[in-house]
Amino acid sequence: MSAIAIVGMQWGDEGKAKVLDALAEETDIVVRYQGGANAGHTVVVGKEKYAFHLVPSGILRENKVCVIANGCVVDPEQLVNEVEGLRARGVRIDGTNLLLSDRAHLVMPYHKLIDQLSEQKKESSGQRKIGTTGRGIGPAYVDKVARSGLRVGDLFRPDYFTRRVEERLTELNVILKSLYGQDALSAQEMAAQVLRLSGALRPFVADTAAYINAALKQGKRLLFEGAQGSLLDVDHGTYPFVTSSNATAGGAATGSGVSPKLIKTTMGIAKAYTTRVGSGPFPTELTDKTGEKLRERGAEFGTTTGRPRRCGWLDMVALRYAIEVSGADAIALTKLDVLTGHRELKICTGYQIDGQTVVRFPSDLSMVEKAVPVYETMRGWREEIEEVRSFEALPKAARQYVERIEELLTVPIAYVGVGKARDALIRRGK
Ligand code: IMP
Repeated sequence: MSAIAIVGMQWGDEGKAKVLDALAEETDIVVRYQGGANAGHTVVVGKEKYAFHLVPSGILRENKVCVIANGCVVDPEQLVNEVEGLRARGVRIDGTNLLLSDRAHLVMPYHKLIDQLSEQKKESSGQRKIGTTGRGIGPAYVDKVARSGLRVGDLFRPDYFTRRVEERLTELNVILKSLYGQDALSAQEMAAQVLRLSGALRPFVADTAAYINAALKQGKRLLFEGAQGSLLDVDHGTYPFVTSSNATAGGAATGSGVSPKLIKTTMGIAKAYTTRVGSGPFPTELTDKTGEKLRERGAEFGTTTGRPRRCGWLDMVALRYAIEVSGADAIALTKLDVLTGHRELKICTGYQIDGQTVVRFPSDLSMVEKAVPVYETMRGWREEIEEVRSFEALPKAARQYVERIEELLTVPIAYVGVGKARDALIRRGK
């Protein structure tokens, strides 16, 4: 029995899909447990590039079962489009290799509308936007917690579904009118619009917690595919500039219905530098030419929104914190190749805040905003490393960079990503 959680250690976009794809080979079941179509996982297979938002990227491998578990919020339209898009490219998807939890909450069209209107309102009233992906994630989780949400299973009880949409819209229409000056939405039309998709989703719908627990008992190997990153976690991230789910490893247990005791290993994924999309503090951000160079070389533009990502040096204060709150056993350090061509590289080992040196990531956002990074400088390298497949064959300075990071951590660096190709991932040690 083995269950591994793959968890982002920064603000998302750490290159989780690449590690997932490599580990999926030795896995039977891949489970998405939180978030929704805000995620964007890219996998490159030969000349083909696949972008995933809801469907676990394990779907590209034969004989894997992919599960969208209860902790996710599912936009039915997006899921149907994604499945159809993948099928059109020859990927087999049916009720035997994709399962959708009947307990997962639905992202309704009004959630996306509220997400976008609320961001626009913040901007026009001079407040700071969260910089959401506009995919309705926050409002869908709000309804879940407020107990006014709709779940995948409700799609198959059309009368109940329509009644619940009516109840929700009775309230929401007041808010839409008074706060945003919007016309009322028709509950009947909206319910019908979503119910039309139920037939396409029906083959996938299952009690996925029962499925996963039975699979674990049978000795199947599971991979929990985290989305976003620990610093975007609603409890542990840079609140309020976070997503609305638990992106740390604990989310894998509640988000899928398995005991935390069964998740034996957590692999933390961190980029060899740092990026962030949307607003919020980012102590090591580089707003100069070096930051631009990282963005260009690293193709740091959002998979979901196309927005340019903010780029900066590796932040060990934030990384050590993420490792702690997710209990990561090892790290996969990705995109090392992006650092080629810098004369020197910097690693942030602490923050200066109000004249004090701080090595623990503060919970107070205003402290993180004031943090001035304390850097260690490392020598860079000029050689391209995309084709390198063993750690020993990396340029000395690249090895030293990885080894220094490892020294500053409490856990080993088990993988090093060196390029876009599927096999451009160096495994270290056993
Ligand atoms: P939301 O998840 O769309 O509500 O967005 C909340 C914050 O999380 C914003 O800063 C987004 O840019 C960020 N975010 C959400 N999903 C991802 C992701 O997959 N990668 C990186 N950032 C993300």
